[in-house]
Amino acid sequence: MRAQLDEIVGSALQRGSAVPAFTCYDFTTALAVVGAAEEAGRGVILLVAPKTAATTNGLRLISALRGLADEASVPVAVQLDHASDLEVITAAVAAGADSVLADGSSLPYEENIALVREVRKALDARGSADVVLEAELGGLAGDEDKAFGADSGGEPSGNDVAGLTDSAQVEDFVARTGAQLLAVAVGNVHGKYKGEPELRWDVLQDIAVRTRIPLVLHGASGIPADELAKAPAMNVGKVNFNTELRTGVLATLEAQTAAHRADGENLQGLLAHWNASAKDFAAATLGMLSR
Ligand code: 13P
Repeated sequence: MRAQLDEIVGSALQRGSAVPAFTCYDFTTALAVVGAAEEAGRGVILLVAPKTAATTNGLRLISALRGLADEASVPVAVQLDHASDLEVITAAVAAGADSVLADGSSLPYEENIALVREVRKALDARGSADVVLEAELGGLAGDEDKAFGADSGGEPSGNDVAGLTDSAQVEDFVARTGAQLLAVAVGNVHGKYKGEPELRWDVLQDIAVRTRIPLVLHGASGIPADELAKAPAMNVGKVNFNTELRTGVLATLEAQTAAHRADGENLQGLLAHWNASAKDFAAATLGMLSR
């Protein structure tokens, strides 16, 4: 069912839970995520990467996700993740996204605020005042769409955060941007961690007392379950996953493709394994974050 992202997150936090958000590059994964949420009886968030939303096919995917969300028996929101391009943002909202992460975290502080305000203004002017805005303060290292391990030849994401959220800025940032959710940098990174993640719970705690709006933890792949379970107590109501979901699907496809080719080029069967892999991951994550 259609639901405002801030309401899904707010009611989860009231129960001491957080809502997982999963990047969906395709409809098979989205079906699996929504299926897992329906079985768990919990709300969920479908994330669309900005590179996806920048294409015609990606905008069609957003419309399809919108339809899936509206038909679901549990609250589902569709969010455009990490966007800074106004054209992409307005097109994604027109296609059906009901929330946007207006991401100015790589910009200087005042420019970050200006970007979020500009996005709010542009959406309001287009009759989209109900679109929920997340903003990000502090910088996350790593790539949103690709993850490299230390031994894979690519550049690992590492644990070198681009800059922890400065808790002293939080009140001013939230007041001036009007953001409804705040993504924070507390040692979390996109992609694979170099060694063990070292989350700064002290910084998160300090942020949590400075604002009443829900906090968002990006880069959750690789953070141990018992660590993530602590997040709702610090007002983290939304936790974003991408890498672990992709890793599971790709490993499943790698393991299953030969047998399915031998079985009459059985793409339908292979897609069922894809769905099962994503669904198992989403179900485990929903369970881990729920109270
Ligand atoms: P991971 O790929 O590290 O799970 O991060 C996902 C994310 O934060 C999407 O916004």
